[in-house]
Amino acid sequence: MADLSIKIGHTTFKNPIFVASGTFGYGTDNPELVDVSNIGAIVTKSITLNPREGNPPPRIVETPSGMINSIGLANIGVEKYISELLPIYEVMDTPIIMNIAGSSITEYIDVMKKVEAVSSNIVGYEINISCPNVKEGGMEFGVDCEMTEKLTRELRNFTDRLLIMKLSPNVTDITAIAKSSENGGADAVSAINTVVGMSIDHKTKKSNIYTTYGGLSGPAIKPVGLACVHKVFNAVKIPIIGIGGMVSSHDVIEYILAGSCAVQIGTANYRDPGIAEKILNDLNDYLDEQNLNSITSLIGAVKTYV
Ligand code: DHB
Repeated sequence: MADLSIKIGHTTFKNPIFVASGTFGYGTDNPELVDVSNIGAIVTKSITLNPREGNPPPRIVETPSGMINSIGLANIGVEKYISELLPIYEVMDTPIIMNIAGSSITEYIDVMKKVEAVSSNIVGYEINISCPNVKEGGMEFGVDCEMTEKLTRELRNFTDRLLIMKLSPNVTDITAIAKSSENGGADAVSAINTVVGMSIDHKTKKSNIYTTYGGLSGPAIKPVGLACVHKVFNAVKIPIIGIGGMVSSHDVIEYILAGSCAVQIGTANYRDPGIAEKILNDLNDYLDEQNLNSITSLIGAVKTYV
């Protein structure tokens, strides 16, 4: 069997198949249904300083070409994350990456400082600078190079754990934001977050999302994600965690060929919460068939014409 382990910064993961923030809750739901022990890492739902109710409904809609959501960062807040979830993570054997969101640099820092002040086994942080659905913060950071670099640099001061900046595709040049993350000291970037979208009911003439716009996800955005990962791969030296519309091991291989060293399965979890493990098994079979003993030779190995 191939060696699927990968290294990001100083952290080694047993395999490159992670589950994406917001699509797997806090990683503790329905343990009787899904065995999470084989997953490379769980990225938990975005956490803010204070608990949030999120946006009013309707905040999720399925379209013929992907799902649109505008949850508005509903979450339990950092205090509860620390008191209720960290102890559970302590006895899980799946690495946990905590996703943090905020509406100011201070908020991101305060959340991180609170987690760093207690003992836990979380392996790193993914910083959501790309939420399309809140009025303040969120994507504001991820579309601005200076803000991205400043936020990354500030957070870098407070942790030796993995620091991963999650990039938005809703920008003119994603490579510029990736470079700012690298300059600020990030260990990796994850790409992409959702693509801004809209859905209208032609009969009622109403928007299908309370906030009018939301984040499009699912197979529809895979080509967008592949292009973003490939562009970023050519622009920075830090590892890239690919995200966007993967439903099979073939999709994963394409993301690796585009330049990802690991991937996150997102929207597909809603249809089948056990899909990450299935994809992992299929990835193993693929590598065996190809007589490859690791995925590292495939990273960024796409053959382009130009
Ligand atoms: C939300 C956050 C995101 O980062 C995203 O891509 C989509 C939705 C949210 O909580 O609304």
